[in-house]
Amino acid sequence: MRKIELTTGSIDQLGFGTYKITNEDAPEAVTCALNVGYRHIDTAQMYGNELGVGNALAATNIPREDIFLTTKLNTPNHRPDDVRRTFAQSLVDLQTDYVDLFLIHWPMPMYYGGDFITTYRVMEEFVASGQARAIGVSNFEIHHLEKLLSGVSIKPAVNQVEIHPYFTNTELASYCAEHGIAVEAWSPLGRGRVLNDAVIGAIADEIQATPAQIVLAWHLAKGHIAIPKSTHVERQRENFGAVDVELSEAQIAAIDSLDKGEPGRTGKHPDVFDRL
Ligand code: A2P
Repeated sequence: MRKIELTTGSIDQLGFGTYKITNEDAPEAVTCALNVGYRHIDTAQMYGNELGVGNALAATNIPREDIFLTTKLNTPNHRPDDVRRTFAQSLVDLQTDYVDLFLIHWPMPMYYGGDFITTYRVMEEFVASGQARAIGVSNFEIHHLEKLLSGVSIKPAVNQVEIHPYFTNTELASYCAEHGIAVEAWSPLGRGRVLNDAVIGAIADEIQATPAQIVLAWHLAKGHIAIPKSTHVERQRENFGAVDVELSEAQIAAIDSLDKGEPGRTGKHPDVFDRL
């Protein structure tokens, strides 16, 4: 598995995302993913499936230290006491003493007086206690990162944001790269929407891989961490196989050119995402 170096250790570039997987389905989906070979699992308080993910982790024979586990702080929980209380509950549900990565899920600039620095500083306590090996953010734009970097001691290890061929988010990804913040792509397949694209289909035919493998190989070539989600074991396996797919410079450039800019987003802009 290809890895990205964080300041705290390495992270598998290809992980298993659990967004939209219910708590009931999570034990089977995560167990399948571990059996396929994934050793990097991404969940969030918001997904409501931490207990189900934890059940899979509790049942597996794979040692905890071989698995990279990420969870995220939900949007109603930014106040210091709520950060501490809900993070403790996440560890209980995940049935582990620590997570490898804990992220602020959304910046929520319209709430909490726009202050995500206080929230992040509480998360720095978890690094000191060993309960979070690394901390970072999700859905932070450049101006959020600039503000954050000016007020915290531990640089975010990761910024997990929407990136796929229809929304390449290039300026933000470049800013992160320049500042030593690893770029993690959520909905790396554009929620499945980019898989029917003709350009991607043609490249898939050219090198006898599947469209999903082409898109994931593009992410890997760009240096992104990517966390595709699937509840189907054959698709989990197909996606995992992307680590063996190599794209030419011309193929990467052809996929880069599919970017639609802002209209390519599938989610809300982080400046206006306000769901508590
Ligand atoms: P499913 O879970 O039914 O397999 P993203 O990770 O970009 O959000 O994309 C997830 C969506 O893409 C889900 O709807 C998932 O459906 C689908 N998907 C995941 N992997 C594949 C694949 N290899 N081929 C086709 N669709 C896929």
